[in-house]
Amino acid sequence: MKLIIAGATGFVATEVLRQAIENPAVTSLIALARRETACPENAGENATKFTSVVCNDFSNYSEDVKKQLAGANACIWLIAVTPSKAGTMPFNEVRKICLDYTDYGIAAMAPIAAKPFRFMYCSGVNGERDQTKKPWLMADMALMRGKTEQNVLDFAAASNGTVEASTAKPGMISGPDVPWTQAIAKTIISTVVGLPRVEVSEIAAAMITAVVGGFEKDTYLNEDLVRIGRKVLDNETGSV
Ligand SMILES: NC(=O)c1ccc[n+]([C@@H]2O[C@H](COP(=O)([O-])OP(=O)(O)OC[C@H]3O[C@@H](n4cnc5c(N)ncnc54)[C@H](OP(=O)(O)O)[C@@H]3O)[C@@H](O)[C@H]2O)c1
Repeated sequence: MKLIIAGATGFVATEVLRQAIENPAVTSLIALARRETACPENAGENATKFTSVVCNDFSNYSEDVKKQLAGANACIWLIAVTPSKAGTMPFNEVRKICLDYTDYGIAAMAPIAAKPFRFMYCSGVNGERDQTKKPWLMADMALMRGKTEQNVLDFAAASNGTVEASTAKPGMISGPDVPWTQAIAKTIISTVVGLPRVEVSEIAAAMITAVVGGFEKDTYLNEDLVRIGRKVLDNETGSV
């Protein structure tokens, strides 16, 4: 399958690329980002599967970018501004990157993709789809992420089966390469706020499994990501 990883330069995407490049079901791996993405170090002879595609405007895909995305079977969408960075820019800009770019992305890819096209949107545990609610934590962000989740699901529902969509709602994502200061901050925040945790290797494995094998459900909660990811990773290491 031809798999697009959007936001390919990010923390989660780096692990998704590392795992996907070794997955025999993935025959073409497109790393889509606003700058060049390096081929994963573990690629070896699979490097021929990898293509870095730079998109200068995520609200208006050039013909050249569309040509390179054409025929994709699936996309894992990881473009966003995380809460730790969101405070440093106006909310309108954060909304444009998180919500508008996702809407434009699925709309640009769907007509040129293989059918059915699987689109997995990575959000967060606090995304609130019910826009009448008033989340107690980062309300604007939570409602905006929830609206994006709903937009993606609505797009698929209106596609006559040509697009299948799902959402991942992880809590705090930890990983081996996270600097120790950030790792401590993440532990404190997840404990104080009561956020569930998932390893970056687990969420990457779970999302790849979902787009390769088909969606079990339209919403993967943190516990689903840990369960599916752990199963895949334990099978690989022979510990089950
Ligand atoms: N990290 C966590 O603990 C955590 C927890 C829960 C949910 N999530 C969710 O998981 C997803 C991935 O998170 P992450 O930690 O991997 O984030 P990240 O490392 O900050 O990566 C975000 C990606 O979005 C791209 N991006 C940001 N601003 C952009 C812009 N203006 N135009 C185009 N691309 C832009 C970044 O490109 P550049 O590299 O060029 O900046 C990068 O490729 C997000 O939806 C996030 O909310 C993360």
